[in-house]
Amino acid sequence: MTDFISNITAVAEEFEQHFAAHLPPVAGLQGKVIEAMRYTSLGGGKRLRPFFVVQTARMLGYDAPGVWAVASALECVHVYSLVHDDLPCMDDDDVRRGKPTVHKKWDEATAVLAGDALLTHAFDLLARDTVHADPLVRLALIRDLTKASGHDGMIGGQMIDLSMDSLPATEETITRLQDLKTGALIHYGVMAGATLAGADDAARKHLSAYAAHIGLIFQITDDLLDAEGDADTVGKAVQKDDDHGKATFVSILGIDGAKARARDLAEQAAGHLEPFGHKAAPLKSAIDFVLTRNK
Ligand code: IPE
Ligand code: IPE
Ligand code: MG
Ligand code: MG
Ligand code: MG
Repeated sequence: MTDFISNITAVAEEFEQHFAAHLPPVAGLQGKVIEAMRYTSLGGGKRLRPFFVVQTARMLGYDAPGVWAVASALECVHVYSLVHDDLPCMDDDDVRRGKPTVHKKWDEATAVLAGDALLTHAFDLLARDTVHADPLVRLALIRDLTKASGHDGMIGGQMIDLSMDSLPATEETITRLQDLKTGALIHYGVMAGATLAGADDAARKHLSAYAAHIGLIFQITDDLLDAEGDADTVGKAVQKDDDHGKATFVSILGIDGAKARARDLAEQAAGHLEPFGHKAAPLKSAIDFVLTRNK
Protein backbone atom coordinates (compact mmCIF):
# COMPACT_ATOMS: atom_id res chain seq x y z
CA MET A 1 0.00 0.00 0.00
CA THR A 2 2.72 2.47 0.98
CA ASP A 3 4.59 1.44 -2.17
CA PHE A 4 1.55 2.25 -4.21
CA ILE A 5 1.06 5.65 -2.60
CA SER A 6 4.65 6.63 -3.38
CA ASN A 7 4.32 5.16 -6.87
CA ILE A 8 1.07 7.00 -7.70
CA THR A 9 2.41 10.20 -6.13
CA ALA A 10 5.53 10.01 -8.28
CA VAL A 11 3.51 9.41 -11.45
CA ALA A 12 1.01 12.14 -10.46
CA GLU A 13 3.83 14.68 -9.93
CA GLU A 14 5.42 13.86 -13.26
CA PHE A 15 2.01 13.93 -14.91
CA GLU A 16 1.28 17.40 -13.50
CA GLN A 17 4.24 18.90 -15.39
CA HIS A 18 3.27 17.21 -18.65
CA PHE A 19 -0.42 18.07 -18.24
CA ALA A 20 0.37 21.76 -17.67
CA ALA A 21 2.38 21.74 -20.90
CA HIS A 22 -0.39 19.95 -22.81
CA LEU A 23 -3.04 22.55 -21.88
CA PRO A 24 -3.24 25.77 -23.92
CA PRO A 25 -1.66 28.92 -22.39
CA VAL A 26 -4.05 31.67 -21.34
CA ALA A 27 -4.15 34.08 -24.28
CA GLY A 28 -6.50 35.96 -26.57
CA LEU A 29 -9.88 37.56 -26.08
CA GLN A 30 -11.21 34.13 -25.04
CA GLY A 31 -8.58 33.83 -22.28
CA LYS A 32 -11.27 33.38 -19.61
CA VAL A 33 -12.29 29.95 -20.89
CA ILE A 34 -8.65 28.82 -20.98
CA GLU A 35 -8.14 30.13 -17.46
CA ALA A 36 -11.13 28.06 -16.31
CA MET A 37 -9.78 24.99 -18.15
CA ARG A 38 -6.44 25.32 -16.39
CA TYR A 39 -7.96 26.18 -12.99
CA THR A 40 -10.06 23.04 -12.92
CA SER A 41 -7.45 20.75 -14.49
CA LEU A 42 -4.30 21.59 -12.55
CA GLY A 43 -3.44 21.21 -8.87
CA GLY A 44 -5.78 18.51 -7.67
CA GLY A 45 -7.17 15.08 -8.29
CA LYS A 46 -5.65 11.68 -7.69
CA ARG A 47 -4.61 11.31 -11.36
CA LEU A 48 -5.57 7.65 -11.26
CA ARG A 49 -6.55 7.46 -14.93
CA PRO A 50 -3.18 8.85 -16.10
CA PHE A 51 -1.52 6.33 -13.76
CA PHE A 52 -3.25 3.47 -15.57
CA VAL A 53 -2.15 4.72 -19.02
CA VAL A 54 1.47 5.17 -18.00
CA GLN A 55 1.87 2.05 -15.84
CA THR A 56 0.11 -0.31 -18.24
CA ALA A 57 2.33 0.89 -21.09
CA ARG A 58 5.44 0.57 -18.88
CA MET A 59 4.46 -2.93 -17.73
CA LEU A 60 4.36 -3.91 -21.40
CA GLY A 61 7.78 -2.36 -22.04
CA TYR A 62 6.66 0.91 -23.63
CA ASP A 63 7.76 4.24 -22.14
CA ALA A 64 7.88 6.87 -24.91
CA PRO A 65 6.83 10.53 -24.29
CA GLY A 66 3.50 9.91 -26.09
CA VAL A 67 2.17 8.22 -22.93
CA TRP A 68 1.90 11.67 -21.29
CA ALA A 69 -0.12 13.11 -24.18
CA VAL A 70 -2.55 10.19 -24.00
CA ALA A 71 -2.75 10.48 -20.21
CA SER A 72 -3.42 14.24 -20.60
CA ALA A 73 -6.16 13.63 -23.18
CA LEU A 74 -7.89 11.16 -20.86
CA GLU A 75 -7.61 13.49 -17.86
CA CYS A 76 -9.11 16.33 -19.99
CA VAL A 77 -12.20 14.19 -20.62
CA HIS A 78 -12.40 13.17 -16.97
CA VAL A 79 -12.08 16.77 -15.76
CA TYR A 80 -14.72 17.96 -18.22
CA SER A 81 -17.05 15.23 -16.94
CA LEU A 82 -16.57 16.55 -13.39
CA VAL A 83 -17.16 20.20 -14.37
CA HIS A 84 -20.46 19.30 -16.03
CA ASP A 85 -21.42 16.75 -13.31
CA ASP A 86 -21.17 19.55 -10.72
CA LEU A 87 -23.45 21.99 -12.60
CA PRO A 88 -26.73 23.01 -10.92
CA CYS A 89 -28.71 21.07 -13.58
CA MET A 90 -26.83 17.89 -12.62
CA ASP A 91 -25.47 17.31 -9.08
CA ASP A 92 -25.32 20.99 -8.10
CA ASP A 93 -22.04 20.87 -6.20
CA ASP A 94 -20.01 23.82 -4.90
CA VAL A 95 -16.70 22.12 -4.10
CA ARG A 96 -14.51 19.88 -6.23
CA ARG A 97 -10.98 18.77 -5.39
CA GLY A 98 -11.17 21.05 -2.36
CA LYS A 99 -11.80 24.18 -4.46
CA PRO A 100 -14.91 26.05 -5.63
CA THR A 101 -16.44 24.41 -8.72
CA VAL A 102 -16.05 26.31 -12.01
CA HIS A 103 -19.64 27.60 -12.03
CA LYS A 104 -19.12 28.92 -8.49
CA LYS A 105 -15.80 30.61 -9.26
CA TRP A 106 -17.07 32.03 -12.56
CA ASP A 107 -20.58 31.21 -13.82
CA GLU A 108 -22.54 28.38 -15.43
CA ALA A 109 -21.89 29.46 -19.01
CA THR A 110 -18.14 29.49 -18.38
CA ALA A 111 -18.38 26.00 -16.81
CA VAL A 112 -20.28 24.64 -19.82
CA LEU A 113 -17.78 26.15 -22.24
CA ALA A 114 -14.67 25.12 -20.26
CA GLY A 115 -15.99 21.54 -20.15
CA ASP A 116 -16.74 21.55 -23.87
CA ALA A 117 -13.30 22.97 -24.64
CA LEU A 118 -11.54 20.32 -22.50
CA LEU A 119 -13.42 17.53 -24.29
CA THR A 120 -12.51 18.94 -27.70
CA HIS A 121 -8.90 19.54 -26.69
CA ALA A 122 -8.51 15.86 -25.77
CA PHE A 123 -8.90 14.87 -29.40
CA ASP A 124 -6.47 17.53 -30.57
CA LEU A 125 -3.89 16.00 -28.20
CA LEU A 126 -4.48 12.44 -29.46
CA ALA A 127 -4.22 13.45 -33.13
CA ARG A 128 -0.68 14.86 -32.75
CA ASP A 129 2.04 12.82 -34.42
CA THR A 130 4.14 12.99 -31.25
CA VAL A 131 1.65 10.59 -29.62
CA HIS A 132 2.83 7.59 -31.65
CA ALA A 133 4.64 7.19 -34.95
CA ASP A 134 1.94 4.88 -36.37
CA PRO A 135 -1.17 6.83 -37.48
CA LEU A 136 -3.28 3.68 -37.06
CA VAL A 137 -2.36 3.59 -33.38
CA ARG A 138 -3.39 7.24 -33.05
CA LEU A 139 -6.65 6.50 -34.83
CA ALA A 140 -7.38 3.58 -32.49
CA LEU A 141 -6.69 5.79 -29.47
CA ILE A 142 -9.07 8.46 -30.81
CA ARG A 143 -11.81 5.99 -31.73
CA ASP A 144 -11.67 4.24 -28.36
CA LEU A 145 -11.82 7.55 -26.45
CA THR A 146 -14.90 8.66 -28.41
CA LYS A 147 -16.59 5.38 -27.45
CA ALA A 148 -15.54 5.58 -23.79
CA SER A 149 -16.70 9.21 -23.50
CA GLY A 150 -19.95 9.26 -25.44
CA HIS A 151 -23.45 7.78 -25.43
CA ASP A 152 -22.08 4.24 -25.08
CA GLY A 153 -19.63 5.33 -22.39
CA MET A 154 -19.45 8.00 -19.68
CA ILE A 155 -22.31 10.13 -21.08
CA GLY A 156 -24.50 7.04 -21.39
CA GLY A 157 -23.84 6.29 -17.72
CA GLN A 158 -24.62 9.84 -16.67
CA MET A 159 -27.92 9.65 -18.57
CA ILE A 160 -28.86 6.37 -16.86
CA ASP A 161 -27.84 7.94 -13.51
CA LEU A 162 -30.27 10.83 -14.13
CA SER A 163 -33.00 8.45 -15.36
CA MET A 164 -32.96 6.12 -12.37
CA ASP A 165 -36.35 7.41 -11.12
CA SER A 166 -38.01 5.64 -14.02
CA LEU A 167 -35.75 2.58 -14.18
CA PRO A 168 -35.74 -0.54 -11.98
CA ALA A 169 -33.22 -0.05 -9.14
CA THR A 170 -31.73 -3.52 -9.54
CA GLU A 171 -28.14 -4.61 -9.22
CA GLU A 172 -28.09 -5.26 -12.95
CA THR A 173 -29.13 -1.69 -13.77
CA ILE A 174 -26.67 -0.19 -11.29
CA THR A 175 -23.84 -2.32 -12.63
CA ARG A 176 -24.59 -1.19 -16.19
CA LEU A 177 -24.83 2.44 -15.02
CA GLN A 178 -21.50 2.29 -13.21
CA ASP A 179 -19.74 0.35 -15.95
CA LEU A 180 -20.51 3.24 -18.26
CA LYS A 181 -20.41 6.27 -15.95
CA THR A 182 -17.11 5.51 -14.26
CA GLY A 183 -15.87 2.26 -15.73
CA ALA A 184 -15.54 3.35 -19.34
CA LEU A 185 -12.88 6.04 -18.79
CA ILE A 186 -10.88 3.90 -16.36
CA HIS A 187 -11.04 1.02 -18.83
CA TYR A 188 -9.80 3.37 -21.54
CA GLY A 189 -6.78 4.29 -19.40
CA VAL A 190 -5.61 0.70 -19.12
CA MET A 191 -6.43 -0.20 -22.73
CA ALA A 192 -4.78 2.95 -24.13
CA GLY A 193 -1.56 1.87 -22.40
CA ALA A 194 -1.95 -1.54 -24.06
CA THR A 195 -2.64 0.06 -27.46
CA LEU A 196 0.45 2.29 -27.24
CA ALA A 197 2.55 -0.75 -26.36
CA GLY A 198 1.09 -2.90 -29.15
CA ALA A 199 -0.20 -5.59 -26.75
CA ASP A 200 -1.44 -8.85 -28.29
CA ASP A 201 -5.04 -10.08 -28.05
CA ALA A 202 -4.39 -12.38 -25.07
CA ALA A 203 -2.83 -9.55 -23.03
CA ARG A 204 -5.63 -7.16 -24.03
CA LYS A 205 -8.24 -9.66 -22.88
CA HIS A 206 -6.76 -9.96 -19.39
CA LEU A 207 -6.19 -6.22 -19.10
CA SER A 208 -9.73 -5.49 -20.24
CA ALA A 209 -11.14 -7.77 -17.52
CA TYR A 210 -8.81 -6.24 -14.91
CA ALA A 211 -9.89 -2.71 -15.92
CA ALA A 212 -13.60 -3.56 -15.85
CA HIS A 213 -13.25 -4.87 -12.30
CA ILE A 214 -11.24 -1.83 -11.20
CA GLY A 215 -13.92 0.50 -12.62
CA LEU A 216 -16.64 -1.17 -10.58
CA ILE A 217 -14.55 -1.21 -7.39
CA PHE A 218 -13.76 2.46 -7.95
CA GLN A 219 -17.41 3.48 -8.16
CA ILE A 220 -18.38 1.25 -5.22
CA THR A 221 -15.78 3.07 -3.11
CA ASP A 222 -17.02 6.43 -4.46
CA ASP A 223 -20.50 5.48 -3.23
CA LEU A 224 -19.06 4.27 0.10
CA LEU A 225 -17.11 7.53 0.52
CA ASP A 226 -20.32 9.44 -0.12
CA ALA A 227 -21.99 7.41 2.64
CA GLU A 228 -19.14 7.24 5.15
CA GLY A 229 -16.36 9.61 4.07
CA ASP A 230 -15.17 12.94 5.43
CA ALA A 231 -15.87 15.90 3.10
CA ASP A 232 -12.56 17.68 3.84
CA THR A 233 -10.53 14.55 3.08
CA VAL A 234 -12.60 13.55 0.05
CA GLY A 235 -12.47 17.13 -1.32
CA LYS A 236 -16.16 17.20 -2.29
CA ALA A 237 -19.53 17.10 -0.54
CA VAL A 238 -20.57 13.76 0.99
CA GLN A 239 -23.93 12.32 2.11
CA LYS A 240 -25.51 13.52 -1.11
CA ASP A 241 -26.53 10.23 -2.72
CA ASP A 242 -28.79 9.16 0.15
CA ASP A 243 -30.26 12.66 0.61
CA HIS A 244 -31.17 12.70 -3.07
CA GLY A 245 -32.52 9.15 -3.05
CA LYS A 246 -29.85 8.05 -5.56
CA ALA A 247 -29.68 4.40 -6.45
CA THR A 248 -26.07 3.29 -5.84
CA PHE A 249 -24.27 0.07 -4.94
CA VAL A 250 -24.65 1.14 -1.32
CA SER A 251 -28.41 1.70 -1.59
CA ILE A 252 -28.87 -1.69 -3.29
CA LEU A 253 -26.37 -3.87 -1.39
CA GLY A 254 -26.06 -1.97 1.89
CA ILE A 255 -22.69 -0.79 3.26
CA ASP A 256 -21.44 -4.25 4.24
CA GLY A 257 -22.74 -5.83 1.04
CA ALA A 258 -21.04 -3.14 -1.07
CA LYS A 259 -17.74 -3.68 0.79
CA ALA A 260 -17.98 -7.45 0.32
CA ARG A 261 -18.70 -7.00 -3.38
CA ALA A 262 -15.68 -4.69 -3.76
CA ARG A 263 -13.41 -7.26 -2.05
CA ASP A 264 -14.71 -10.01 -4.30
CA LEU A 265 -14.10 -7.90 -7.42
CA ALA A 266 -10.60 -7.10 -6.13
CA GLU A 267 -9.71 -10.78 -5.95
CA GLN A 268 -10.93 -11.31 -9.49
CA ALA A 269 -9.00 -8.26 -10.72
CA ALA A 270 -5.77 -9.64 -9.21
CA GLY A 271 -6.34 -12.94 -11.01
CA HIS A 272 -6.30 -11.16 -14.36
CA LEU A 273 -2.81 -9.78 -13.64
CA GLU A 274 -1.22 -13.18 -12.99
CA PRO A 275 -0.09 -13.70 -16.61
CA PHE A 276 2.06 -10.55 -16.32
CA GLY A 277 4.07 -11.80 -13.35
CA HIS A 278 6.08 -9.43 -11.16
CA LYS A 279 5.93 -6.64 -13.75
CA ALA A 280 2.27 -6.18 -12.81
CA ALA A 281 3.19 -4.99 -9.28
CA PRO A 282 2.09 -1.33 -9.85
CA LEU A 283 -1.25 -2.39 -11.35
CA LYS A 284 -1.68 -4.92 -8.56
CA SER A 285 -1.16 -2.36 -5.82
CA ALA A 286 -3.67 -0.09 -7.60
CA ILE A 287 -6.33 -2.65 -6.66
CA ASP A 288 -5.62 -2.17 -2.94
CA PHE A 289 -5.61 1.58 -3.43
CA VAL A 290 -9.04 1.74 -5.05
CA LEU A 291 -10.37 -0.68 -2.45
CA THR A 292 -9.12 1.20 0.61
CA ARG A 293 -8.94 4.82 -0.56
CA ASN A 294 -10.29 7.57 1.69
CA LYS A 295 -10.46 10.26 -1.02
C1 IPE B 1 -14.61 11.18 -9.30
O1 IPE B 1 -13.45 10.67 -9.86
C2 IPE B 1 -15.78 10.90 -10.14
C3 IPE B 1 -16.04 9.48 -10.39
C4 IPE B 1 -15.96 9.00 -11.57
C5 IPE B 1 -16.46 8.61 -9.30
P1 IPE B 1 -12.07 10.67 -9.05
O2 IPE B 1 -12.34 10.18 -7.66
O3 IPE B 1 -11.03 9.96 -9.83
O4 IPE B 1 -11.75 12.22 -8.97
P2 IPE B 1 -10.34 12.99 -8.95
O5 IPE B 1 -9.84 13.00 -10.35
O6 IPE B 1 -9.41 12.26 -8.02
O7 IPE B 1 -10.71 14.36 -8.45
C1 IPE C 1 -20.06 11.15 -11.71
O1 IPE C 1 -20.39 10.35 -10.60
C2 IPE C 1 -19.02 10.51 -12.49
C3 IPE C 1 -18.79 11.29 -13.71
C4 IPE C 1 -18.96 10.79 -14.87
C5 IPE C 1 -18.33 12.67 -13.59
P1 IPE C 1 -20.65 11.11 -9.25
O2 IPE C 1 -21.63 12.21 -9.45
O3 IPE C 1 -20.93 10.11 -8.19
O4 IPE C 1 -19.20 11.74 -9.01
P2 IPE C 1 -18.84 12.69 -7.79
O5 IPE C 1 -19.21 11.93 -6.54
O6 IPE C 1 -19.63 13.95 -7.97
O7 IPE C 1 -17.36 12.89 -7.95
MG1 MG D 1 -23.25 12.61 -10.73
MG1 MG E 1 -21.45 14.24 -8.69
MG1 MG F 1 -20.23 10.16 -6.16
